[in-house]
Amino acid sequence: MTYGSFPGARPRRLRTTPAMRRMVAETRLHPADLILPAFVREGITEPVPIQAMPGVVQHSLDTLRKAAVEAVEAGVAGIMLFGVPEDEKKDAAGTAGTDPDGILQVAIRAVRAEIGDDLVVMSDLCLDEYTDHGHCGVLDADGRVDNDATLERYAEMAQVQADAGVHVVGPSGMMDGQVGVVRDALDQTGHEDVSILAYTAKYSSAFYGPFREAVGSSLQGDRKTYQQDPANVRESLRELALDLDEGADMVMVKPAGPYLDILAKVAESVDVPVAAYQISGEYAMVEAAAEKGWIDRDRAILETLTGIKRAGANMILTYWATEVARGL
Ligand code: PBG
Repeated sequence: MTYGSFPGARPRRLRTTPAMRRMVAETRLHPADLILPAFVREGITEPVPIQAMPGVVQHSLDTLRKAAVEAVEAGVAGIMLFGVPEDEKKDAAGTAGTDPDGILQVAIRAVRAEIGDDLVVMSDLCLDEYTDHGHCGVLDADGRVDNDATLERYAEMAQVQADAGVHVVGPSGMMDGQVGVVRDALDQTGHEDVSILAYTAKYSSAFYGPFREAVGSSLQGDRKTYQQDPANVRESLRELALDLDEGADMVMVKPAGPYLDILAKVAESVDVPVAAYQISGEYAMVEAAAEKGWIDRDRAILETLTGIKRAGANMILTYWATEVARGL
């Protein structure tokens, strides 16, 4: 090409009108891509707003049922439930997590009774919501998270959540061997049809901050001995191989936005569905900047979700699921 002549190629031609841009779009969001994470708190009748997540609440059982129905009507694919027990029910072993009448189990039954199979009902399988120290597992005599003792607790959790009627369990504690133990526990108790969405690449992230308020966690210390270091890529591929080997039906990368490279690598190397979790801090950042008038909220939301899908996610957990699904 000679300088000064007309450009030989004009990519701008395909951007000229909204109809043209829509036609050539390579990535489209669909309501069925979206999964709504929802918090349900024991012992409340009115929902409690979460300060650091404007627009998100701790549900009562009643408002949780309504939220589930709204998600169905909007075409959302699933709901991921987190239980928030009463403070005095938290203990070192996270007993409320394996109580058949614990808040999460009650919530699973309530949502299934309300919407049947119209949403995929998923549950967080982790102890941090139920332990008084806030860790995702039980502690040994020296105060360290005891991997294998925690696995026994996860096996019990898997059974009670499945007994309550969950379709998918989401082990999120990053203990070694957790997927295999959960699979065995489900199979041994007649729950061979309950699927496992493995939190495969779960990083130790500052962006979980608002979630701690959402579940009323008083974490002592941090999770760096079990969640992954943000610096690492190969470590995720190793976790991926292990989770698939142990029987994961679906795998997840979390957080989403700061880890799109991980998501892309995982998506290109597996033949199971891949999820990404747009976490509490990712939500809070957009809401806070929009509230200040610094960014266009709706465009920013769609841009983050489109980016996550473009990177390879088949499913996206996002606190905006119902709102976005309605607008699509
Ligand atoms: C663990 C769990 C966490 C989140 C989902 N499952 C907290 C953590 O690992 O510290 C965070 C989700 C979010 O921040 O939106 N039970």
